[in-house]
Amino acid sequence: MKTIIEPFRIKSIEPITMTTRSQRQTFLQEVDYNLFKLHSKDVIIDLLTDSGTGAMSAKQWAAIMGGDESYAGSPSFERFQSAVQNLMPFDHIIPTHQGRAAEAILFSILAKPGKNFPNNTHFDTTRGNIEAGGAMAHDLVIDEGKDPTNLHPFKGNMNLQKLESYLTEHGDSVPCVMLTITNNAGGGQPVSLENIRAVAKIAKAHGRPFIIDGCRFAENAYFIKKREDGQQNRSISDIVRDCFADADGMTMSAKKDAFANIGGWLALNDPDLADLARARLIQTEGFPTYGGLAGRDLDAIAQGLTEIVEEDYLAYRIRTNEYIVERLDNMGIPVVKPAGGHAVFIDARAWLSHIPPLQYPGQSVAAALYETGGIRSCEIGTVMFGRHPDGTESPAAMDLVRLAMPRRTYTQSHADYIIEAFGELAEIKQDLRGFRIVKEPKLMRHFTCQFEPLS
Ligand SMILES: Cc1ncc(COP(=O)(O)O)c(C=O)c1O
Repeated sequence: MKTIIEPFRIKSIEPITMTTRSQRQTFLQEVDYNLFKLHSKDVIIDLLTDSGTGAMSAKQWAAIMGGDESYAGSPSFERFQSAVQNLMPFDHIIPTHQGRAAEAILFSILAKPGKNFPNNTHFDTTRGNIEAGGAMAHDLVIDEGKDPTNLHPFKGNMNLQKLESYLTEHGDSVPCVMLTITNNAGGGQPVSLENIRAVAKIAKAHGRPFIIDGCRFAENAYFIKKREDGQQNRSISDIVRDCFADADGMTMSAKKDAFANIGGWLALNDPDLADLARARLIQTEGFPTYGGLAGRDLDAIAQGLTEIVEEDYLAYRIRTNEYIVERLDNMGIPVVKPAGGHAVFIDARAWLSHIPPLQYPGQSVAAALYETGGIRSCEIGTVMFGRHPDGTESPAAMDLVRLAMPRRTYTQSHADYIIEAFGELAEIKQDLRGFRIVKEPKLMRHFTCQFEPLS
């Protein structure tokens, strides 16, 4: 059969409240046009994030009942640890309540004024944690990764020449080399196994630890299987193991490719760094056998890790995004191609070329999409990345709108509804206007800032 269907049946449902356009106009005004501040009951299809919003399986809910809530030495931790080490063979697995907590612990140790951190593209919380320590975060993704129409199969790859010169230039001021798979901020684009290995080699040659931000490791491995020479006959699990084999550690959000609603971990090989991290963990998250989690969460993650590497699931997931991208592309809407692993990205700067980047075309698309169809998306552009630690503002590399797909949550007809909403938007796009920010915090402004529409 050619048709790729959702490889699951629905056993438990969550009703959606339908709203009207005029209700949504009021809701938008009430939240100062910041979609993060909407009540979720006022959203019809929630594509704000794929983080922690997926559906757990019957086996995960069953595993939750087997959770052991002992403060220390819980068997839930042992199940969690062995599920992680089965895929990512690091010596020290340190549970945290989510990915940014793993980052906060790592960078509270490594990120100090004068330090520099390269990555293909730092995710916003990664950058935030590095900058909070007074260090600098730099993005070295390949040029193809910044061109939304370039069909390079691995647009998340690190630019190896740039990494080489970066390490030569910054030397000892680089506490570690980071690589994000897939590259969320760059469009959910994958990194090839060849590139991962090359980054590891360069980092090693310069004596720098290599840490992978592995939030979407399974989606990345699926792309490797589909697109990289010699990988076609290998299992997803084997590819995953290879991806992490040459790394010195990882940060992880279990809210992504572990099918959990909460959780994360920091994994390390260096015992001294792991000791420092555990000391910090006890101070901020909890005892090392639970981190900031309940024992039942650790069991949900352990089970989720066995399900996320199933190829039928990954085929359905990646195909859903490709389907939406193909349809939007046919309608003349500029989309990031090829489709990303966890999300569809609209190139708002190209689509609304009448709105300059500093008037936030991505925010304009996101607000209009909510008003039209009750669909909540997320600006990934100048609102998110345009404000710098010194207080200046400049356009981000791209102004994208991300439609992040929660895992195992929406169906083909939801995808068709999204496509229809874009069809309606396409008819009025010339009338859309930009925004100005009237109030913002110092760091990570996109979560809480207030917008005002420009007339
Ligand atoms: C690439 C990447 N790194 C880190 C994080 C942070 O994870 P969490 O949301 O669990 O704190 C995210 C979350 O979206 C992410 O996409």
